[in-house]
Amino acid sequence: MRYDDITEAIGNTPLVRIDPAVHGLRTIDLYAKLEMLNPFGSVKDRAAWNMLRPDLAGAVERDAQVVELSSGNTAKALAVLAGLHGLRFRSVTNRMRVPELRELLLLLGAEIEELPGRSECLDPTDTDDPLTQFHRALTEDGAHHLHTDQYFNPRNTEAHTTGTGPEIVKDLGGRAPDWFVACVGTAGSSTGVARVLREHDPGVGVLGLVAAKSDFIPGIRTLDEVAEVGLFDPETYDVIEAVTADEAIDGMVELNRRCGLLAGPTSGAAYRGAVSHLRPLDEERARRASGEPAERATAVFIACDRVESYLGYVRRRRPELLGRAPHRNALATVTEAELAAVRDAGVAEARRWIEEERPLVVDLRGSHAYAALHIEGAINIVDELFEQQVHGGLPFGRDRPVLLVCPVGEKSARFAALLTRMGHTNVRSLAGGVVAWRDAGAPLVRE
Ligand SMILES: Cc1ncc(COP(=O)(O)O)c(C=O)c1O
Repeated sequence: MRYDDITEAIGNTPLVRIDPAVHGLRTIDLYAKLEMLNPFGSVKDRAAWNMLRPDLAGAVERDAQVVELSSGNTAKALAVLAGLHGLRFRSVTNRMRVPELRELLLLLGAEIEELPGRSECLDPTDTDDPLTQFHRALTEDGAHHLHTDQYFNPRNTEAHTTGTGPEIVKDLGGRAPDWFVACVGTAGSSTGVARVLREHDPGVGVLGLVAAKSDFIPGIRTLDEVAEVGLFDPETYDVIEAVTADEAIDGMVELNRRCGLLAGPTSGAAYRGAVSHLRPLDEERARRASGEPAERATAVFIACDRVESYLGYVRRRRPELLGRAPHRNALATVTEAELAAVRDAGVAEARRWIEEERPLVVDLRGSHAYAALHIEGAINIVDELFEQQVHGGLPFGRDRPVLLVCPVGEKSARFAALLTRMGHTNVRSLAGGVVAWRDAGAPLVRE
């Protein structure tokens, strides 16, 4: 294989069968589409190049800066592609949560702009959201920027209708698989591939995977977040299921250790999600075959990127996998019963409590969101740091009244449950979070 330009190496990724002895499905062949083998490391190389390419010459001429709302793989691919063409790249995000990716972006010469925002996905109806305002400014002023606009740009999806989808069909001998499984971030890859597969076979089952509510799997959205994405159309999927971060990591480790695939957490989520969804169908097929060899079915999932960037993510969530002592009080260990027992406080009640008992108000949001607006007197301990303090020692005693605050009240409720388990006697969570506080017209201050 000889190329004049690294962009020619984007796409044409291998489709590799997963050993049935590992996944355990008896009548279904499960394949991984190895998007992690794209030259810049992920499925987003295709979308980034397809979005950038048509506007590149004009951008070079006017020395425009390439800009994208991304804290991960799209930013990485665009940083490389911009650099390759002598352009500057700026990644705008509400929060860079994977330190390895942040440092890689800086190494690649990217500028990183962190804005407070509820989600990196845009809700166009939410005119208060700083990311939405930023998005509008970029769309209006096209002179100095080339905004690739991955959440709304149809060329994101097109990268997969012209590339990923047809490649899968070709590698399966001109047929669509019976099931296609993909994690949903911008929805570009799942939408594009599903469209092509359905043209070949309208009966193909499409399973979209999102992160479980208030869980974090880098690269994909929760169901609430994904509904805000312009490219997302629920009709694309026959089923949308949620995967927990723990399941994603377990799936990833199985791919890494047993399948020879050095794939990352969303690949693990897709693999885990595929096997859980297909297992009952597989059992039914085997039963119907009643001892005869069943006709074989095929399923394909996307392995989006590589594991190496996520060692810090694994260390924080599953230290035992890296030979460290496990955290007894990890956030993921909070049970539904513990969550149900949390004393949360609505806005009016929380205001009264603050007035009367002066609890310590801990704002768990990112520092930019906190700086923009917070409850007066609140201290800011970003949730990831707070979780480390839960393991290593909190800066307040067990009897101190504490009000935990997060964007919408989910994460704070989990932490309140955890602290209550650890013997803290008076910890409450602000129901509905800062969003409810703001919507109720309660006062917020700037730093
Ligand atoms: C690691 C990873 N997995 C999955 C996805 C989802 O891909 P898409 O944006 O096409 O839905 C992304 C998107 O950024 C990603 O970075």
